[in-house]
Amino acid sequence: MRLENKVAIVTGATSGMGRATAVLFAKEGAKVVVCGRNEERAKAVVDQIKADGGEAIAVLGDASDLAYAEEIVNKTVEAFGTVDVLVNNAGMLSMSTLQDVSIEEWDRVFRVNVDSALRLCQLCAPIMKEKGKGVIVNVASVASFAAHHGFAAYISSKHGMAGLSKSMAWELGPEIRVNAIAPGAIHTAMVDSIGGPAVLQGMIDNCPCKRIGKPEDIATVALFLATDDSSFIDGQIIKVDGGFEC
Ligand SMILES: NC(=O)c1ccc[n+]([C@@H]2O[C@H](COP(=O)([O-])OP(=O)(O)OC[C@H]3O[C@@H](n4cnc5c(N)ncnc54)[C@H](OP(=O)(O)O)[C@@H]3O)[C@@H](O)[C@H]2O)c1
Repeated sequence: MRLENKVAIVTGATSGMGRATAVLFAKEGAKVVVCGRNEERAKAVVDQIKADGGEAIAVLGDASDLAYAEEIVNKTVEAFGTVDVLVNNAGMLSMSTLQDVSIEEWDRVFRVNVDSALRLCQLCAPIMKEKGKGVIVNVASVASFAAHHGFAAYISSKHGMAGLSKSMAWELGPEIRVNAIAPGAIHTAMVDSIGGPAVLQGMIDNCPCKRIGKPEDIATVALFLATDDSSFIDGQIIKVDGGFEC
């Protein structure tokens, strides 16, 4: 029970790697706050955690609305009294080129992928500082390191998430450690939205591990970063990509 008596907020916990992280954290003893927009999927995650003997609540909302961050933190404190771990995982894809992306789309991608993490950090950090301890895990991407044609807003936002994570580590330490995970190709709804089996096969062929990642491959690293097992790791962007970017 590596997260016994801890309270963890996981954004984007209704699906994919956020869901896997929420479920794993609860199995390790954390009281989990499941965030996302989809009520049915949020309820399914909370029900699964409770069926496993854990504790969880759902707080629903759109991450592009920064007032939602306040609701998440208020409801967390109301239900569980504090917050020890924040996982900023919610994210949206954008497949527009630089030439085609509208300012509205660009703004929305940054709101969801970067600004919401900043706002949650601003709200959670004082609580963690006062306790003298806290952990923030951000979900960046291999797109935080390299660019490809056609994903301008997404890639820029994930580069932003890398810079934000390092800034958070400098400004919030020593009480709060902040690291980011940079997933490669992980089989979730987001990857399925890029293309069909041929796209997946291309991702597998381009990676020395010769497989696509599972959401649980990210959840186990998030757990490691959330515990004292990683107590001397701070301000890092850790690639979990099967060697794709090596
Ligand atoms: N899959 C990959 O290969 C890959 C690679 C690198 C990085 N990532 C990053 O990993 C993170 C998780 O993605 P995933 O692959 O697990 O995708 P996913 O299965 O599509 O999950 C995305 C999660 O984000 C939430 N979300 C999206 N837009 C939101 C919004 N406007 N407001 C609130 N919640 C929102 C979704 O919840 P609702 O639908 O309930 O709103 C869902 O829980 C993202 O930050 C993504 O950029 C993924």
